[in-house]
Amino acid sequence: MPKRRHLILVMMIGALSAVLALQAYAAGEKRYIGSKACGECHTDEYANFMKYAKKAHSCNSIKIMANGLTEDELKTCYSCHTTGYGKPGGFVSMEKTPEMADAGCEVCHGPGSAHSDSGGDVKDIILKMKISDCEVCHSVDRVKAFNFKPMLFGGAH
Ligand code: HEC
Ligand code: HEC
Ligand code: HEC
Ligand code: HEC
Repeated sequence: MPKRRHLILVMMIGALSAVLALQAYAAGEKRYIGSKACGECHTDEYANFMKYAKKAHSCNSIKIMANGLTEDELKTCYSCHTTGYGKPGGFVSMEKTPEMADAGCEVCHGPGSAHSDSGGDVKDIILKMKISDCEVCHSVDRVKAFNFKPMLFGGAH
């Protein structure tokens, strides 16, 4: 393909993906924003969480074991030990998204971009959760392995 046409094609694809990204945004796709961003408004919950919750340091648990693991094995840890792995705004890697490296507020309350952008519209954030929401990570296997089943109001703030 001649260089010029190639360039135009690349530009068109670029413009198209920008439009698609904007549409997804306009359609109200919620993105993960990280616990620190929540802490801007919810200072008490944030302070308690950082001080008391093991989740706030859950990426250390992976780091401790990282030496003995392959890259692929390590990736299997991310869905539970980080925030929003593989989802919009969520964890990508320790280098690219250090602010999403722990399991933060949004693993329980859901992605918070719309709630934050609106200045705190309660329609856009999850308040009530069920124990089945916890079991995504506190799975039957883990409960057996650690002999620990969380109570609904445990480990938050
Ligand atoms: C995205 C995965 C994920 C979800 C969802 C999740 N947890 Fe956790 N939770 C973790 C991880 C990972 C740890 C362990 C952190 C560590 O020690 O590395 C943990 C630790 C805990 C602990 C340990 C004690 C402490 O002080 O932190 C409690 C209690 C807990 N979670 C409660 C809950 C409850 C209740 C829910 C549901 C409302 C829930 N979790 C949902 C991943 C999750
Ligand atoms: C299905 C979700 C899930 C996956 C996948 C997962 N973890 Fe965990 N992990 C947890 C939960 C939940 C806890 C908290 C256990 C508890 O206290 O019940 C935990 C606890 C731990 C702890 C103990 C922390 C402590 O304070 O005692 C270590 C270490 C750990 N995980 C490392 C890893 C590593 C390394 C991987 C990947 C190979 C991994 N985990 C994969 C959910 C998960
Ligand atoms: C382990 C799950 C979990 C995590 C993690 C978590 N929360 Fe919560 N949060 C809850 C539960 C459960 C409630 C009480 C819901 C109800 O009233 O039924 C709650 C309630 C709240 C409320 C309403 C007011 C209140 O205190 O009752 C705010 C605000 C809040 N959380 C903010 C945060 C912020 C900010 C973070 C992170 C720094 C966070 N939460 C992390 C589970 C969690
Ligand atoms: C720009 C400020 C702001 C940010 C950022 C923000 N919130 Fe809020 N949030 C509010 C306001 C205002 C309310 C409603 C007043 C209240 O009850 O505190 C609220 C209410 C809540 C509630 C209670 C909802 C209900 O139904 O009563 C939860 C849970 C919550 N926020 C969690 C979060 C989480 C998690 C994050 C980060 C992802 C976050 N917030 C980020 C301002 C904010």
